[in-house]
Amino acid sequence: EINLHGRDFLKLLDFTPEEIEYLLDLAADFKDKKKKGIPHNEYPTKNVALIFEKTSTRTRCSFEVAAHDLGMGSTYLEPTGSQIGHKESIADTARVLASMYDGIEYRGFDQEIVETLAKYSKVPVWNGLTNEFHPTQMLADLLTIKEHFGHLKGIHLCYLGDARYNTGNSLMVACAKMGMHFTAVSNKKYYPDQKLIDTCLEIAKETGAVIDFSEDVMEGTKGADVIATDIWVSMGEPEEVWEERIKDLSPYAVTSDVMKNAGDKAVFMHCLPSYHDLNTKMGQKIKEKYGLDEMEVTDEVFESEQSLVFQEAENRMHTIKAVMYATI
Ligand code: CP
Ligand code: NVA
Repeated sequence: EINLHGRDFLKLLDFTPEEIEYLLDLAADFKDKKKKGIPHNEYPTKNVALIFEKTSTRTRCSFEVAAHDLGMGSTYLEPTGSQIGHKESIADTARVLASMYDGIEYRGFDQEIVETLAKYSKVPVWNGLTNEFHPTQMLADLLTIKEHFGHLKGIHLCYLGDARYNTGNSLMVACAKMGMHFTAVSNKKYYPDQKLIDTCLEIAKETGAVIDFSEDVMEGTKGADVIATDIWVSMGEPEEVWEERIKDLSPYAVTSDVMKNAGDKAVFMHCLPSYHDLNTKMGQKIKEKYGLDEMEVTDEVFESEQSLVFQEAENRMHTIKAVMYATI
């Protein structure tokens, strides 16, 4: 019997494949209830605190809607609207919030910060994205893959781009845990940290997962089931890195040729936000400065039948609901 009551959700490495499956099943159940309009406001006396030291659309909205659906209250603490990190330590913040709330979400910088928050909090802490990991995103991605293909084991996921940051790292861990085939297709400079690769290779021995790497786009993505990517410069990184990233990662953009090479059955995934549409403030700036028309994914692929990005985004809410429900 799986019971996650009182557990933190800081990274997928802390969970067994069975526990991950349990959360995915719970999320599918909540999704079904939501679609059918069946109320599930089972936690009317609970409240959650949502700390965001970086901006968010999906994660924040998922936590707020999910909390509301479960009957809970929520407080959003924006990057500049609290004492956290400015006047008050993480340890003190954890003890204060844990005395008022039944769970704490944290989005921010180093993984160490969310780990410290959890250490000093007597209520569950959930990682809403750090530089190193994005575990709630992984549950949404796994649920989406499961919905589409019917299973996870053996599915070949290729990640193109910056594979040593939160999304790339976490997808490698998720694939290792669930017995999938993960290929990082990128310039060597952007492969995950060797220590994390070694950890995943150890997990793979147990689960039957395959973890490999390729600098050759066509060789690496041949016959893949899932082609995934993320933006080339993440939140909190300095603007100066753009030039080098564009130079290094342009060959690893997801284009129609890449999708064709993967095959008709392949799907495209992206945690979002994406620069497929450069008609945004930031997009325009990059377009003008670097003379680029396309970035990590072409508009054609993003808008194609093979793209699961909005199903993936919706699943953030159902899976986050499952995490809060199971751990509170
Ligand atoms: N994918 C994701 O975490 O999106 P937000 O940054 O909008 O929360
Ligand atoms: N790698 C991206 C993910 C956003 C959801 C970032 O950290 O900005």
